[in-house]
Amino acid sequence: MSVAQESLSTAIDELTNIFADRITTNVSVRDTHSRDESWHHPHKPDAVIFPHTTEEVSKIVTVCARYKTPIIAYGTGTSLEGNVIPHHGGIVVDLDRMNQVLRVNVEDLDCTVQARVTRKQLNEHIRDQGIFFPIDPGADASLGGMAATRASGTNAVRYGTMRENVLGLTVVLADGRIIKTSRRARKSAAGYDLTRLFVGSEGTLGIITEVTLKLYGIPEAMASAVCSFDDLKGAIDTVIQTIQMGIPIARIELLDDVQMDAVNKYSDLNYAVKDTLFLEFHGSENGVKEQAEFVQTIASDNTGGEFKWTTKPEERSKLWAARHDVTYATKSIRPGCEVWATDVCVPISNLANCILETKEDLKDSFLIAPLVGHVGDGNFHLGFVINREDPKELEEAERLNDRLVMRALAMDGTCTGEHGIGLGKMKFLTAEHGESVGVMREIKKSLDPLNIMNPGKIFSL
Ligand code: LAC
Ligand code: ZN
Repeated sequence: MSVAQESLSTAIDELTNIFADRITTNVSVRDTHSRDESWHHPHKPDAVIFPHTTEEVSKIVTVCARYKTPIIAYGTGTSLEGNVIPHHGGIVVDLDRMNQVLRVNVEDLDCTVQARVTRKQLNEHIRDQGIFFPIDPGADASLGGMAATRASGTNAVRYGTMRENVLGLTVVLADGRIIKTSRRARKSAAGYDLTRLFVGSEGTLGIITEVTLKLYGIPEAMASAVCSFDDLKGAIDTVIQTIQMGIPIARIELLDDVQMDAVNKYSDLNYAVKDTLFLEFHGSENGVKEQAEFVQTIASDNTGGEFKWTTKPEERSKLWAARHDVTYATKSIRPGCEVWATDVCVPISNLANCILETKEDLKDSFLIAPLVGHVGDGNFHLGFVINREDPKELEEAERLNDRLVMRALAMDGTCTGEHGIGLGKMKFLTAEHGESVGVMREIKKSLDPLNIMNPGKIFSL
């Protein structure tokens, strides 16, 4: 046995003494924790452990630090860039049992949850009190994972991303210390903003065990609509003008014709196979009506057809469920294949150019790649449908992805608006941030000198 293997097995033995049957080396459990929902190749951890409390997470980290064992925090495994794949083996800390809503304060519109509470679970818990948590990345992800990846999704255009909605965190650091990053005040000018440092750190600086979040009153009126366009540019210009006029739209999602075809088939719908916007308006009855009429006018000036309205909760749920199932719909285009879901975001004034140039690239490619996006934020995805065992297809997806990312960066955008860096976007980080990546490395080395926290992610050391 090598020294590294010996240390690992001693770490597992010590953890077994403390956690008994809550740590396992069972192959099928390790297999479940070897992957996320991305195309990236799985890699099994050496063990999986199930803590109940922040103090137990601290104990795990203390043992792993002693033996330099990699630690990967795991929520629902729904990341899309290999963010939770235990690339270097080690121990997956599955927070599954840390699923309690700890506190809800309706007067202050905030709550604190354990990391594995999912966004839907939280919303079920608080619905009767007339409040909700808006951030919605599609998957029923854990709120700890959403904080760790700085997730966003369809509602971000109105309510912001996890960056704007996390008020504070409890974090277990790489040496086992437990810290709280802030109090509950809505704003604070006290010292460095550690909350924002850990939001989006993808488990590389510590393990988030509790999250304090902003909540919102459920709007008096909510209406959703679907509108298809004769022309892709018309659909994008509708988005740009809506945002530039300051209409407080709650959701504005673009699905191109290829994506609409897949969605129709997968979700048993019969929308026109055209470039389409899915929209949602939140506010008072009058406010919603006013916003909707405004956007309807903009759309009809830009080749948009009629608005198909739904205000009934079941119909709205069906519409958004179909939108959220796009990854599965894309997968079903070619059974047995994977979806390489990529993600860029540009300033809104560059959105039309970025999307139209990207579509030109796709015209000349043999790969199918539906386009869908949270376009109100300038954020969109391609889903390359690939057989990941075929090097030619991987090479082509990589070529298109590189061109997409470099195009977004040239437009002062980012290589990822919401999926994070994980494994998939590592090579673009320096192109995007330059010298700042050096500062990120210094922070990483200072907080995790042994490099045990989700090693090999975001940037190499
Ligand atoms: C979505 C995922 C791909 O927007 O981010 O559906
Ligand atoms: Zn998305």
